[in-house]
Amino acid sequence: MAQRETWTSRIGFIFAAVGSAVGLGNIWSFPFQTASNGGAAFLVVYLAAVFLIGFPTMMIEFVIGRRGERNPVEAFKQIGHGQWSFTGGFGLFCSLVTLAFYSVVGGWVLSYILGSATGAYFGDPTTFFGSVAEGPTAIGTHAVFMALTIGIVALGVTDGIERATKFMIPAIIALLVGLGVWAATLDGASAGYSYYLSPDFGVIVENFWSIVPPAMGQAFFTLSLGFSVMIAYASYLGRDDSLPADGGAIVVVNTLIALLAGFVVFPLLSSTIGLAEAGSGGAGTAFIAIASGFGSLPAGEILGISFFVVLLFAALSSSISLLEVPVSYVSENYGYGRSTTAVVLGLGIFLVGVPATFGTTWLDFYNDLVFELLLPVAVLMLAIFAGWIADTDLVDELGRGSSLGSSFATGWLWWVRVVIPIVLLMTLYLGIQSLSEGLSSGAYF
Ligand code: TRP
Repeated sequence: MAQRETWTSRIGFIFAAVGSAVGLGNIWSFPFQTASNGGAAFLVVYLAAVFLIGFPTMMIEFVIGRRGERNPVEAFKQIGHGQWSFTGGFGLFCSLVTLAFYSVVGGWVLSYILGSATGAYFGDPTTFFGSVAEGPTAIGTHAVFMALTIGIVALGVTDGIERATKFMIPAIIALLVGLGVWAATLDGASAGYSYYLSPDFGVIVENFWSIVPPAMGQAFFTLSLGFSVMIAYASYLGRDDSLPADGGAIVVVNTLIALLAGFVVFPLLSSTIGLAEAGSGGAGTAFIAIASGFGSLPAGEILGISFFVVLLFAALSSSISLLEVPVSYVSENYGYGRSTTAVVLGLGIFLVGVPATFGTTWLDFYNDLVFELLLPVAVLMLAIFAGWIADTDLVDELGRGSSLGSSFATGWLWWVRVVIPIVLLMTLYLGIQSLSEGLSSGAYF
């Protein structure tokens, strides 16, 4: 095997990982999950999930990837545990299922770019959302978004990701900060902030069991954990980089961008459609709130276009890596051409996603399936592997290049062995319960 390339710079790796992490998860899913699950109470549980479970899980994927130096399936063989390679494969499967509905939401972004140009949503953002999120328009934009994703992966221009994100991340931050400052000046903004930021601990305790599964799912989803993608990225990492430092930077930037999105969405919600509807806005929450902001701004068209174009880039950089990692594996491993593989897998995923255009409750089903079942299973397998099967092998890998010392690595190992599996088993139990409740009550279809 030829000498493997490595990232041209440490910052290149961080940007690529941030590019994967930052996406619709931050700007669409985070405000939507927060609004639907009680606001600040959700925020608290979510932040705990990101730092206490997400960050250590990211370290699991990093050590497997860097030690394995192969694609996410082969990496397990390289470490000497080939029987566990299904874990890497399962992550690739999660990527494909996620892409199916991610692309539908990516299609909404396309509609909003157009809608900003024509001002179509300015009058009535809620009706506009309904008209583009479901039905023929939604299928059409889903097809276009998927075609873009397939095209970029098939042409093999994915190193463009690294370059594009360098520009995209600052642009997203600048736009969100600008919008956030403006949103602060709106009448009624303060009610939005208090819904978003001041947790009522009584509410957390009372709703704890129903908040945990979506908060945990959101944490994994937004950090791209459980999809094997961080295994793939870390396999190109130099031996001497500090994994905790890089991971810490990725987690912090990603979290800040989600929090910023909340600073735009919640004041807008409270000053326009009202917070009572925040939860009932469902999957449309962020789109409706942000669009109603542009609708009332002087240069709404220009701002709207810029915002949604940047969001499109963020979504594409994520969708590309959702397709790219499984495609590389399949084409490397089974010897099919790269573009053929991209087209075949991409078309299949397009079809799987079509039902999510039937209505937003169908989309909720895909979303909940990934958040509440597939991701906890994927991360549980990773934790069991790293904690009990690979055991102390991976601990050395975590320590390499890091100045945190061996007690950090040992602490991590025990956390991965004990705490993460217990939390995930509980999450999984609750998640399965809520999924089956949703299925039997007809909440999805
Ligand atoms: N984290 C991305 C987001 O927040 C979505 C995502 C999940 C992803 N898994 C991924 C992106 C794997 C790239 C690769 O939108």
